[in-house]
Amino acid sequence: MSHRILLLGAPGAGKGTQSAKLADEYGVEHVTTGDALRANKEMETEYGTPKSFMDAGELVPNPVVNEIVEAALDDADGFVLDGYPRNLEQAEFLSSITVLDAVILLDVDEEVLVDRLTGRRVCDDCGANFHVDFQPPEEPGVCDECGGELVQREDDTEETARERLEVFYENTEPVVDHFRDEGVLVEVDGEATPDEVFDRIRDVVEN
Ligand code: AP5
Repeated sequence: MSHRILLLGAPGAGKGTQSAKLADEYGVEHVTTGDALRANKEMETEYGTPKSFMDAGELVPNPVVNEIVEAALDDADGFVLDGYPRNLEQAEFLSSITVLDAVILLDVDEEVLVDRLTGRRVCDDCGANFHVDFQPPEEPGVCDECGGELVQREDDTEETARERLEVFYENTEPVVDHFRDEGVLVEVDGEATPDEVFDRIRDVVEN
């Protein structure tokens, strides 16, 4: 059975970490607007480049992101969607183009989120995620998966991380209400080890 799963949660809640596990477990596409936009940071749009919004911790304009998501979902036979929707207009657009089986909201305290974001390191070559304290690589600064260099994302400084959290708290409530009204939203406590959080999510998806 192909799954259509949406993971919601603040920056640092573990959406990327859990989406990768879900995509692996169920053999579905991992569709993430953050990665898609980072790969197209310099793309000229009528609103400017995605980079100009991302480096300030702001949302990229809806038409740009909606188009990326529609194309990705069109091509996917089952997916786990991460980083989208981030406001009510995106949520309504998503509901108009697909039907979701499960919407999971990862719940994590704000100060834990800041620690996770500022300590995150990402492989410059393969994109694998690490954390200097919670998920350290075997050799500091070197990716366990491919030997690539681990770097800090430009928007993971404390100042930009806090700005991203502000943007999330301002925009997310209507999104959560939208999916709660559709009767598909389940909240999952995201403060445990990645494997424990994954077990909780799998329980929701399968039951
Ligand atoms: P995006 O890339 O989507 O970033 P985000 O939502 O801010 O989410 P993150 O990737 O920071 O966090 P995550 O929840 O995936 O956490 P992770 O698993 O890595 O978006 C970036 C920017 O792009 C936005 O600011 C915006 O400008 C733009 N954008 C994207 N989508 C958009 C949209 N729809 N509309 C408009 N603009 C958009 O985990 C974080 C760290 O914690 C890692 O180091 C990890 O190792 C660690 N960790 C994870 N789980 C645990 C755990 N259980 N215990 C301990 N540590 C853990």
